[in-house]
Amino acid sequence: SNGITADPLVAAIDQGTSSTRFLVFNPKTAELISHHQVEISQSFPKEGWVEEDPMEILQSVHDCIERTCEKLTQLQIDISSIKAIGVTNQRETTLVWDKETGKPLYNAIVWLDLRTQSTVERLIDKAPGKDKNHLKHKTGLPISTYFSAVKLRWLLDNVKEVAEAVFSHRAMFGTVDSWIIWCLTGGKSGGVHCTDVTNASRTMLFNIHTLEWDSELCKYFDVPVEILPDVRSSSEIYGIMKSGSLTGVPISGCLGDQSAALVGQMCFKVGQAKNTYGTGCFLLCNTGVKPVLSDHGLLTTIAYKMGRDKPAFYALEGSVAIAGAVVRWLKDNMGIIQSSQELEKLASAAGSSYGCYFVPAFSGLYAPYWEPSARGIICGLTQFTNRSHLAFAALEAVCFQTREILDAMNQDSGVPLTQLQVDGGMTSNRLLMQLQSDILCIPVVRPTMSETTALGAAMAAGAAEGVNVWDLTSDSLTSLPSEKFQPKINLEESEFRYARWKKAVQRSMNWET
Ligand code: G3P
Repeated sequence: SNGITADPLVAAIDQGTSSTRFLVFNPKTAELISHHQVEISQSFPKEGWVEEDPMEILQSVHDCIERTCEKLTQLQIDISSIKAIGVTNQRETTLVWDKETGKPLYNAIVWLDLRTQSTVERLIDKAPGKDKNHLKHKTGLPISTYFSAVKLRWLLDNVKEVAEAVFSHRAMFGTVDSWIIWCLTGGKSGGVHCTDVTNASRTMLFNIHTLEWDSELCKYFDVPVEILPDVRSSSEIYGIMKSGSLTGVPISGCLGDQSAALVGQMCFKVGQAKNTYGTGCFLLCNTGVKPVLSDHGLLTTIAYKMGRDKPAFYALEGSVAIAGAVVRWLKDNMGIIQSSQELEKLASAAGSSYGCYFVPAFSGLYAPYWEPSARGIICGLTQFTNRSHLAFAALEAVCFQTREILDAMNQDSGVPLTQLQVDGGMTSNRLLMQLQSDILCIPVVRPTMSETTALGAAMAAGAAEGVNVWDLTSDSLTSLPSEKFQPKINLEESEFRYARWKKAVQRSMNWET
């Protein structure tokens, strides 16, 4: 028999905005053994609305698990080596289902969705001093379309089936983690209705200090507490798999995807940070066991809580709504490219945007502005401009947005980051990595294994009490093999381009008012 079959393995479900993945790791080496990925469809039923089908999400999870198990068997690896499963997910996306039928009562409202813009504007208007940060002392968050509470409010007000299910005590609310865990642990026949502290901290109903649902916040958004899931740590056994090839395996890790990436990048010390380029782009900096409130438009969020009796760690977060999503937009909406890979070629051929600036404020602007009324803008066009310049400007937009949140982070912490650890799908784009380093004027460090989000969830699952196959105290955790990109342009040029970007951002503001 093959030596590798004897090692215990740990798996992770990574349910992101654009795709679902199932990945299997060796906890001794953090090596990725096998994986499978399925793209998720998004629907845009009205302007600004973004929905996904909860049943499609669930099916994609099952498919990824089964396909990965087949691949493992082909590699002659015994699937019974998988000792635990972690779940990591797109955060904030909001679902309500019926616990008796097991069926969703509406599509999942995706975090990017803008349908609650008028509700948000009304809430801010009636807040003391019209202050959008009115609830920040408890939640760490500004009032925004981004978080779950307003989406849930919309479902309660506008979907008859949801209101009826609440009335007859059949409704369950959850973010994607809760939906997946409930379904995989038995669904309508005894599924576990839970979430973890990191996901709960994105709902705006959770007190990040007491680590409990907050009755005052629930009253503020008029949300019934009984439909909310139990809040657990990020690393403990929640339940066991009730169907498929991995029946009987414990689900023992749960983290929002950005928290999971922080863990996967081994950022366990105060001041360590990572930036993940997925559908959006999220820079998180570990601030330790005390929450730090930002003065520069960043969020305070829970980083992880690695066990029932372990303390919660907090992070400052800079959130950018549109990163990889701009590539998908150029491909699906504009037909400028056929594949994501083509973007790098096209942009490299241009070598510059030649003065074209693209602010992809499709879902308003997130950090540091929190401006739901901003809309996308392309400016600086001349007759010379062509699709390759636009492709270049799209990549630069991702880099400029990261520069804005890095500046905010440096101002809040007072200790500038001297390099940036990155991960996520887009980081395979070498031009993007070089541009990012040029625009930040610091080195950008990319691990050779890009699936750090899944790795973080697998680590949490493997380290859980009762599983104990992943040692999170070991020294080997401090280093992932990586590659470094150094800045190649001078400071002056970088500042000039950044100043232009800021001018373009100002022009995107207050469009939809
Ligand atoms: O807050 C939204 C975030 O969790 C989504 O991540 O990787 O799907 O862009 P991603």
